[in-house]
Amino acid sequence: MSAEIAVKVDPGNTEQARAWDGNEGAYWADNAEYFDRSIAGYDVAFMAAADVSEHDHVLDIGCGTGKTTRDAARAASSGSALGVDLSSHMIAYAGQVSAREGPPNASFEQADAQVHPFIAEVFDVAISRTGAMFFGDPVAAFTNIARAVRRGGRLALLTWQAPEANEWIRAFSTAMAAGRDLRTPPPDAPGPFSLADPERVQTVLGASGFTDIQLEPHSEAMWFGADADDAQRFVLGLLGWMLEGLDDEGMRRALDNLTATLTAHDTGHGVLYGSAAWTIRATRPGKRDSNDPVRRHP
Ligand SMILES: C[S@@+](CC[C@H](N)C(=O)[O-])C[C@H]1O[C@@H](n2cnc3c(N)ncnc32)[C@H](O)[C@@H]1O
Repeated sequence: MSAEIAVKVDPGNTEQARAWDGNEGAYWADNAEYFDRSIAGYDVAFMAAADVSEHDHVLDIGCGTGKTTRDAARAASSGSALGVDLSSHMIAYAGQVSAREGPPNASFEQADAQVHPFIAEVFDVAISRTGAMFFGDPVAAFTNIARAVRRGGRLALLTWQAPEANEWIRAFSTAMAAGRDLRTPPPDAPGPFSLADPERVQTVLGASGFTDIQLEPHSEAMWFGADADDAQRFVLGLLGWMLEGLDDEGMRRALDNLTATLTAHDTGHGVLYGSAAWTIRATRPGKRDSNDPVRRHP
């Protein structure tokens, strides 16, 4: 974490803030184009789930370097999109791209979405592309997000399905385990797979005040680099922590394994692995009362 994170963070999110506002976030910002390209296969399905209209005001949770915020802002050409993220590095990057390329109705703010005091009922839709699985207390976080969405407004998420359905994480963790038993966090611990279980999604979002919760499965190829060498650099920056604790022999084995799997998946037009994700849609119940003032975020 940059000496101390500049915004209020829930104590249960301190570890995530340390990672995302520290080296992990810096790596994502330095490799933003790689990350956006790796997951680009899901862009169409995600934007279809978000279903942003011209006049919408959109909240992008865990927006990272801001690609989906910019896409949403373009779709909401007479509205706006606000991206919030724990990472000062990624928020700075998102702001720079937006200042350079637009759109002018996209803005970014460093915040912990679990506790940030959003203005109530100000957004038509809250979206997140793989940025809403890291909350220490997901019900508290989604309750806070629901409060920021107007009655009748919507939630649209992209989340990973379980590791068993994701060839990329199985291949990389098997390679880098080099015969060890790599610790696997409990499925409900904050992390990329914490909203993989449809029952848990229903329970968490239902308890947070959302209704009509629908999951749709998607499978896409993920891109990890132009060739095996390029992908090795990218993957080691992302998952290099899996090598921690290996002795020299184990390290050599792990790196050989990684080279072997990346080479086997080098298609000649990119290193590609299978992946599986959910798009999740939900609604904040109720209807805006015609006497309600229309609130807009500043
Ligand atoms: C896997 S990245 C996805 C980034 C971005 N949505 C994208 O698709 O490129 C997860 C993001 O969630 C952010 N994040 C995690 N916990 C958060 C929280 N409590 N509040 C706001 N952002 C959070 C991280 O900082 C990180 O940028």
